[in-house]
Amino acid sequence: MPLPVFYGGHMSTEVYEITANAKINLFLRVTGRLPNGYHKLYSIMQEIGISDDLKITIGEGTSGIEVVCPGRADIEPEHNLCYKAADRFLSKLKKKTLSEGNSFTSPHIRIDLTKNIPSESGMGGGSSDAAAVLVVMQEHFDSPFTEEELAGIAVNVGADVPFFLYGGTCLCEMVGEQITPLNHLEGLPLVIAKPKGGVSTPLCFKMIDSNPLPDFDEGAYAGFVNELDSRIGKGEDVLPFIAANEDLLINDLQAPGIECVPEIATIIQRFKDNGAAYTAMTGSGSAVFAMFPDKESAKSCADKLKEDPDGSKWMLIVTETI
Ligand code: C5P
Repeated sequence: MPLPVFYGGHMSTEVYEITANAKINLFLRVTGRLPNGYHKLYSIMQEIGISDDLKITIGEGTSGIEVVCPGRADIEPEHNLCYKAADRFLSKLKKKTLSEGNSFTSPHIRIDLTKNIPSESGMGGGSSDAAAVLVVMQEHFDSPFTEEELAGIAVNVGADVPFFLYGGTCLCEMVGEQITPLNHLEGLPLVIAKPKGGVSTPLCFKMIDSNPLPDFDEGAYAGFVNELDSRIGKGEDVLPFIAANEDLLINDLQAPGIECVPEIATIIQRFKDNGAAYTAMTGSGSAVFAMFPDKESAKSCADKLKEDPDGSKWMLIVTETI
């Protein structure tokens, strides 16, 4: 997560600007079911270079949280994950401040959000926005919470939110709150394709529940993660290693994702036909990412797909891991 830029402000109002990057899941295994209906996961999440922009104004005045998101009137402000993040942070802060015998006045918080990350894509846009709000509030209120406490607030807002407090490359386990930062896999060229149809995350997980959980060889994955981390640390080109492990790197949500949006399968095939070294659906879809050895081949694939009768209907983004 990039650091917020503080712009000062008038009187007791302070303004922060921050970008919130998207993610992809290199692989995503569903390893268990929890009594609350959530699932245990084992996944590598990777920050990528497409982002939403947030301007967060914190000041005195009428207390309350306002989320302004032009062009997204369909999301009710109270249902926006930014609202949820600010609300959870403030209620925890109020509890902590009062328990220490101090008084607490709720501030006015206005969040201006410019969305670039597509919704229902599995790219974590809403979760990243929420993490950005938590990072700014933690800074504004002089770090009232420990790293663990902040991750606890984050996972209550959404399962992917704790990852975005770290960013880069991380192994994410349990519901999403157990994060192991790895060496950052930076600068790997990507093309993302997002079909018009989105996938509902709860529905995708529900579809997983209609079958026995797939086999999961934790040892094989731990071996892969350690080896990948060590190769990144040595500055090696890891794309051939990722491609060689294609059979291991499963996204358990991909099959239900394809059932919801069959075009996902077409995108994967089209990426393979156009030189992708590795391609998979991210998260619960419906976006698909493809990894390329260099920027030129990523761009040439995107250019070809733009001319393709199917590809011309997809949102195509050329970017890289960061
Ligand atoms: O936490 P978040 O709101 O992102 O999750 C959306 C939905 O995805 C949850 O309501 C739940 O149905 C499902 N989910 C899950 N297990 C996870 C993460 C999400 O079952 N670890």
